[in-house]
Amino acid sequence: MEELKNFVNSIRRDFAGKPLNEDSVDTNPLKQYQIWFEEAVSAQVVDPYAMSIATVGKDMQPSLRLVYLRDISENGFVFYTNYGSQKAGDIAENNKVALNFYWVELERQIRIQGKVFKVSEEMSDTYFNSRPRESQIGAWASAQSTELTSRQVLEEKVAELTKKFENQDIPRPKYWGGYIVQPFKIEFWQGRPNRLHDRLVYTRTETNDWEISRIAP
Ligand SMILES: Cc1cc2nc3c(=O)[nH]c(=O)nc-3n(C[C@H](O)[C@H](O)[C@H](O)COP(=O)(O)O)c2cc1C
Repeated sequence: MEELKNFVNSIRRDFAGKPLNEDSVDTNPLKQYQIWFEEAVSAQVVDPYAMSIATVGKDMQPSLRLVYLRDISENGFVFYTNYGSQKAGDIAENNKVALNFYWVELERQIRIQGKVFKVSEEMSDTYFNSRPRESQIGAWASAQSTELTSRQVLEEKVAELTKKFENQDIPRPKYWGGYIVQPFKIEFWQGRPNRLHDRLVYTRTETNDWEISRIAP
C-alpha cells in the first residue's frame, strides 16, 4: 500500500504545476480535454469521470450535483440520468448548464459552460443495455428526486421488479436517458506555484471555431 502511495505521489510530482501554454495546447478544447483526461487516468486520479453539473430552473436557484461522464465526442459531454429528476426539471426550463471537473492529484480544474440536449433514444438504449442488470433495475425502481416514505419502499420495489424481469432482457424506461452538454466556453486551470496558476479559456466563435485567451489567476 505504501509503495502504491509513493508511486501515485511520484506521478503527481511529474504533472502538478506543469505549465499550461498557449503554444502547446490543442486548438480544439475537446481534444485538449481528452489529453488531460488520459493524463488523469495515467495518474490514477480517483473517479476522473465524476463531474459536477450546475443547473438553474425558472426559480433562478442554482443547483449542483455530481454525475458520471459516460461519453465525449466533438459535440460534447454525455451523462445519463432520470428525465423526471430535479436536474431534468431545471433543464426543461433552462438548458444552460455548467460542468466542473476537479482532479486534485494533478492540480487541475476544467470549467465548462454550455447548452444541454437529450441524446437520441438509440444512444440511450445502447448505453442502458450495456449497464449491469442491477443498475437497470435501479433505474426502473427509483423515481429520482421524489420523496420516499422509507428505504423499505425502495427495496420492495427492487424486489418486485427483479421478479417481474426474471429471465428477460430489461428495456430502458422511457423516463431515463442521456443528455449531451454542448460547450461554448471551456476553461483549463492548472495549479502553479505561489498561486500564479495558468488559466486558458476557449470560447466558441460565431463561425464555430475556438478562440483561446489567458486570464489572470
Ligand atoms: C460520484 C457520483 C456520481 C454520480 N453519477 C450519477 C449519474 O451519472 N447520474 C445520475 O443521475 N446521478 C448520479 N449521481 C447522483 C447525483 O449526484 C444526484 O444525487 C442525482 O442525480 C439526483 O440529482 P437531482 O435531484 O438534482 O436531479 C452521482 C453521484 C455521485 C456522488
